Amino acid sequence: MHISIIGSGYVGLVTGACFAELGNHVVCADNDIKKIACLKKGLIPIYEPGLDELIKSNLKKKRLNFTSSIADAVNAGEIIFITVGTPSLENGEADLTGIENVARKIAKNMSGYRLIVEKSTVPVETGAWVKQTVSAYAGKKHKFDVASNPEFLREGQAINDFMHPDRIVLGVESKKAAELLTALYKPLKAPILITDVKSAELIKHASNSFLATKISFINAVSQVCDKVGADVSKVALGMGLDGRIGKDFLNAGLGYGGSCFPKDVDAFIAISEKLGYEFDLLTAVRNINSRQREFFLEKIKNTLWIIKGKTIAVLGVSFKPNTDDIRSSAAVDIIRAIQKEGAKVRVYDPKAMKKAAGALNKTVTFCNDAYSASKGSDCLLVLTDWDEFKELDFLKIKKLLKRPVILDGRNIYDPQEMRKLGFTYESIGRKSKD
Ligand code: UDX
Repeated sequence: MHISIIGSGYVGLVTGACFAELGNHVVCADNDIKKIACLKKGLIPIYEPGLDELIKSNLKKKRLNFTSSIADAVNAGEIIFITVGTPSLENGEADLTGIENVARKIAKNMSGYRLIVEKSTVPVETGAWVKQTVSAYAGKKHKFDVASNPEFLREGQAINDFMHPDRIVLGVESKKAAELLTALYKPLKAPILITDVKSAELIKHASNSFLATKISFINAVSQVCDKVGADVSKVALGMGLDGRIGKDFLNAGLGYGGSCFPKDVDAFIAISEKLGYEFDLLTAVRNINSRQREFFLEKIKNTLWIIKGKTIAVLGVSFKPNTDDIRSSAAVDIIRAIQKEGAKVRVYDPKAMKKAAGALNKTVTFCNDAYSASKGSDCLLVLTDWDEFKELDFLKIKKLLKRPVILDGRNIYDPQEMRKLGFTYESIGRKSKD
């Protein structure tokens, strides 16, 4: 099939590369001329495991192309996916300027029937607005359909998520749109749920907000565990074994970050309010999430007493492992807060240091590994659960630190083992005494 993807950011690139890999002819467009020039040479602007190879091999096979001309992309694909960014406005609503712009450009450049598919996370009723906009600017020249096909990709495992999804949601309003999208997704052999456009739009918001709710729930439980001396990871395990609850997304820690959950929760609260419903459950989810970072800061102070003048080693800056993305990262907030209190910070992250260098105050020292970050530090903070942090030589770390103190914001170590090794060890909701 001939497909165009408008918006070559994270979602657009993964979607485009995967559809090409499935044998389709794909054109990815973006108005960032520099980015497109790099992509044409196979230079990928983001870190996502496997994406590099997928793009390069499909460029070679000529199934994947890049263009900075939206008009060319509209011409090339019968199915056009809109994957432009929808950043948060100050009031929490999503900024849909990019989507509206693309809708107008599609209208102007259509040369026959087009199926326009929104894949960016958008508020409910965006499909209806896209339809109105395309009609208004295209007149009655060509037929078109608008559909919603939300993406559920997780950064760090996006290609696997694309190729092996739990479900594919298709919000459509015509038989033709349903047939085209069903045929496109057929090779994935995943369950396909066909709904109306508005329900599909809401499935995305409701799913992300529900996952965020699960995380905030377990974080709230972790607070009670801390106070009573219970172990939140055991509580989560006991809850998760109930098939109705499920064990995923019950890891207590510093709270959720990233480009999706914080923005989507804000947007869902804002849409609901606009529609006349106060979604106070989600307001609580958001508040619990930000308080989790404050609680961790309190733990640092309760352990070190005075932060000013201390050197603090930090492992992890990305919002989660296997990505270089630092957007809404809990680690970034915590680093900024301890810097503000006067700490010298020594940071190591396997992939995100380049992005962190652009975002953090220049006084941060970036180190080559966990050992060099630990050297001469008064304590070690673990802020992202990268696998490589699970296998460190702690006897070496102990010798390098000025004081054997570890504050683990992701609960990746066994408290008893760490204490046996001679560390003062603090984590989230696992205060139980040995
Ligand atoms: C999320 C959704 O999972 C995905 O379906 C959607 O398309 C985009 O948003 P992503 O932002 O890549 O994906 O990350 P995810 O793996 O969901 O983690 C989000 C945040 O929650 C991270 O900061 C992570 O550290 C945190 N998290 C996750 C927890 O704190 N505890 C958990 O149990 C799970």
